[in-house]
Amino acid sequence: MKILITGSNGMLGHDLIDILQKNHELIPTTSKSLDITDENQVMEFICDKKPDIVINSAAYTDVDGCEENQELAYCVNGEGVRNLALACRKTDSCLVHISTDYVFDGTATEPISEDGEIGPISVYGKSKLIAEEAIQEILDRYFIVRTAWLYGVNGKNFPKTMLELAESHSEISVVYDEVGTPTYTPDLAFGISQLIESDQYGIYHLTNSGSCSWCEFARYIFEIADCDVKVIPVTASEFARPAPRPSYSVLDNKNWIEKGFKPLRSYKDAIKEYIELIK
Ligand SMILES: NC(=O)c1ccc[n+]([C@@H]2O[C@H](COP(=O)([O-])OP(=O)(O)OC[C@H]3O[C@@H](n4cnc5c(N)ncnc54)[C@H](OP(=O)(O)O)[C@@H]3O)[C@@H](O)[C@H]2O)c1
Repeated sequence: MKILITGSNGMLGHDLIDILQKNHELIPTTSKSLDITDENQVMEFICDKKPDIVINSAAYTDVDGCEENQELAYCVNGEGVRNLALACRKTDSCLVHISTDYVFDGTATEPISEDGEIGPISVYGKSKLIAEEAIQEILDRYFIVRTAWLYGVNGKNFPKTMLELAESHSEISVVYDEVGTPTYTPDLAFGISQLIESDQYGIYHLTNSGSCSWCEFARYIFEIADCDVKVIPVTASEFARPAPRPSYSVLDNKNWIEKGFKPLRSYKDAIKEYIELIK
């Protein structure tokens, strides 16, 4: 298939290219070659290339930055995706869009399925929800893939930050009252590569298996990386950041499993592989 990928310079974008280039013709794009906020450029580019599938991994992903640059957040994460959906409708391309656990408010107490009640509490989450709504309004053939707590070799992420801090700190404070599922971008990219072979369109939650708090995740990272660091549990309110985060956003990969796909491996196995790779 001919697949256009936006955000190909990003953390997930790199892994999507890695996995999809084996079996597909790819058109990787960056913010320079295809600015998704430029409605005319998006329409012209997609009409010219006529891809079978567009995978949108482009986004303004700085969650705190979104609170300070709201206009940019809504423009990239909301309008940008609307532009892609309109172009996909014109060329009859399927759109795969990556969304987030931050569309939920965090009040759930058990894993949240695809039809769980939406209620973003941050600008980032609200801007990502606008994209989901636009896609559902404009297109019939789409996959909205909500994922969470991404890390991979090609981007800034929590495990990398922890390991960097461990080089100069013997104690690190980490939030314990936010629970989710760390997800390794090659595993997510593999999942997406399977999804696009199917015609079972809709919304999917897709993360590695299991769940933990940031604090538990940090402890596990230090354990496998063999770092002698004391992790001090703190609350999210003690660790003040501009954007509020959901305190619980574990995603039940219900639709994924019901459609017969194999659950992604546990977050513990995935982080082991990642640390082995970057050591
Ligand atoms: N990171 C997480 O923890 C997380 C969690 C849940 C969901 N997600 C979602 O997963 C997806 C991938 O995340 P990621 O962490 O891989 O992102 P990332 O590393 O921050 O990459 C995002 C890419 O978006 C591109 N971009 C930004 N503005 C653009 C524009 N106007 N036009 C075209 N491209 C633009 C950037 O391209 P250039 O480099 O070319 O400027 C960047 O490479 C995103 O949709 C994100 O919302 C992420």
